Amino acid sequence: MIFLFNILLLILIDGIYCFYPETRIGHNSVLINNKIFYFAGNSHEVFYLDLLNSLNTSYAKWVSVADSSINIKYSTSVVNINDSTVFLIGGLMKNPFTGDDDYSHFVYNFDAKKLKWETPQIKGDLPYGRKKMQAVIDNSGLIYIFGGNKILNSSIDNVEMWYNDMNILNVINMTWITLNISLNLPPKRSDYSATLLSNGFIVYIGGRNDPGQPAITMNELYLFDTNNLTWSSMITQGAQIDIRAYHSDVLTSEGHIIIYGGCYGDSHLQVVPNTVILNTQVTPYEWLIPNISSKNSPPSLRGHTADLYKNFMIISFGEITNANSSPTNMNKNIYLLDVQTFTWSILKNNNISNVDFYNQNDLCLLQKKIPIETKITRKTPPTPTPNPIAKADLLVTVFTVVTVGTVVTVVQVGTLILVVVTIGGVVVLVETHEELLTSKRNISVFRSE
Ligand SMILES: *[C@@H]1O[C@H](CO)[C@@H](O)[C@H](O)[C@H]1NC(C)=O
Ligand SMILES: *[C@@H]1O[C@H](CO)[C@@H](O)[C@H](O)[C@H]1NC(C)=O
Ligand SMILES: *[C@@H]1O[C@H](CO)[C@@H](O)[C@H](O)[C@H]1NC(C)=O
Ligand SMILES: *[C@@H]1O[C@H](CO)[C@@H](O)[C@H](O)[C@H]1NC(C)=O
Ligand SMILES: *[C@@H]1O[C@H](CO)[C@@H](O)[C@H](O)[C@H]1NC(C)=O
Ligand SMILES: *[C@@H]1O[C@H](CO)[C@@H](O)[C@H](O)[C@H]1NC(C)=O
Ligand SMILES: *[C@@H]1O[C@H](CO)[C@@H](O)[C@H](O)[C@H]1NC(C)=O
Ligand SMILES: *[C@@H]1O[C@H](CO)[C@@H](O)[C@H](O)[C@H]1NC(C)=O
Repeated sequence: MIFLFNILLLILIDGIYCFYPETRIGHNSVLINNKIFYFAGNSHEVFYLDLLNSLNTSYAKWVSVADSSINIKYSTSVVNINDSTVFLIGGLMKNPFTGDDDYSHFVYNFDAKKLKWETPQIKGDLPYGRKKMQAVIDNSGLIYIFGGNKILNSSIDNVEMWYNDMNILNVINMTWITLNISLNLPPKRSDYSATLLSNGFIVYIGGRNDPGQPAITMNELYLFDTNNLTWSSMITQGAQIDIRAYHSDVLTSEGHIIIYGGCYGDSHLQVVPNTVILNTQVTPYEWLIPNISSKNSPPSLRGHTADLYKNFMIISFGEITNANSSPTNMNKNIYLLDVQTFTWSILKNNNISNVDFYNQNDLCLLQKKIPIETKITRKTPPTPTPNPIAKADLLVTVFTVVTVGTVVTVVQVGTLILVVVTIGGVVVLVETHEELLTSKRNISVFRSE
């Protein structure tokens, strides 16, 4: 009987609000209205963080919306805010089911209104396959993509390669061009940040490149002027800060670029300080180190993302960096930096040891912890095992109290499960459920970079 309630409970939760993302690195995020959409990160899922229902609680509310046909990591994405079309560009690409490389398309579109993927037809000079760039889009629909790290073809490449060309995708007529600029061309690089200022300059910060080339300093910035398609460089003033790659950035309305985290390009070691600000309202631009309380602050991270929503810089996922050793842990929480008061808060994520039975995300979490097979294929209750299942039983007890006076009928026909709930002889719920909980696990995994 406990098992029947278990099935019912899972179905009920599924029908409400049940998705819980895995940790990730090398993903992309874009803000669309009150949602942050997430793509890639060795994943083919698309999901969003519902900010309206997250910021007034301490819990991240996640909604899964679609799958793509491909696993992507270290791509870049931008949104044309006029029509909520997301462009997901470049990156490592694999068929999620066979694990084979699949570079059949360099650009994918996601329509965030229809929640549908498309593969656009693009004319012009298609850039060579590359990853670890950061694109920006302007109001007229031009996407600027600088440099990046070559996708290696094992049959012809034996050393890593970086680019320093500027490629522009016009999303109005879906045409690529590669600019032929030699004046003030920046060094080749990937894993930098790119920020489009309101005056049409793109500021390129940090990143990594060919180990044979000098380290990319934070004191010399390269600026691309989108008004006349020219490069220039600028020596900054202000604080001295560690070089960094795999960091994240947002631009505030005051013209401050706020950078969080990153790591040394090759060793992946932690950089300090985590939070730095580039003030672009003075010339030359000035590095500032804000005075931030450590309360609720995130760990040092790399390969995370940042989005600005109202006055919050929202830091998602990524890998936790250390001072003396390679990263081994992933970030599970979402961190919010209030860019006016410089204080941090946390949206709690997966914490099985701290389950709140009245919180839907925790119910989802619990569901995830129950092995898939026991959910729907077993006809007898699973044999008791320690922790997760014991917690499931506790949850079932809570549910049973709620359902006193109701009659629940569960019938399984092959892989189809039918649940009928009646209260006082009145049918209040009929649910059919196919064996779709069988998870579409990603069988292909990119080697760690
Ligand atoms: C949070 O805000 C959303 C949207 O405004 C609302 O539906 C929800 O009830 C609020 N939750 C709490 C706990 O205040
Ligand atoms: C977005 O809309 C504005 C105002 O209608 C227009 O000027 C601009 O060209 C549009 N951009 C894109 C990329 O469609
Ligand atoms: C790798 O290079 C070989 C030889 O030039 C070519 O035939 C093959 O299509 C390339 N593979 C990819 C994925 O580009
Ligand atoms: C696309 O639009 C741009 C800007 O309007 C124009 O310069 C370019 O020639 C167009 N390309 C094609 C192939 O139509
Ligand atoms: C850059 O040079 C190439 C080869 O000379 C040419 O095909 C291409 O049209 C040029 N691009 C631009 C934007 O002029
Ligand atoms: C491009 O415009 C900037 C100002 O926006 C100016 O300083 C620079 O001289 C211009 N470059 C060229 C080649 O016209
Ligand atoms: C930073 O803030 C703390 C607490 O508000 C204060 O004691 C300290 O003097 C501040 N440091 C700087 C450099 O402003
Ligand atoms: C879960 O929450 C408990 C209590 O708040 C905390 O001690 C523990 O470190 C958390 N575990 C994880 C994995 O975040």
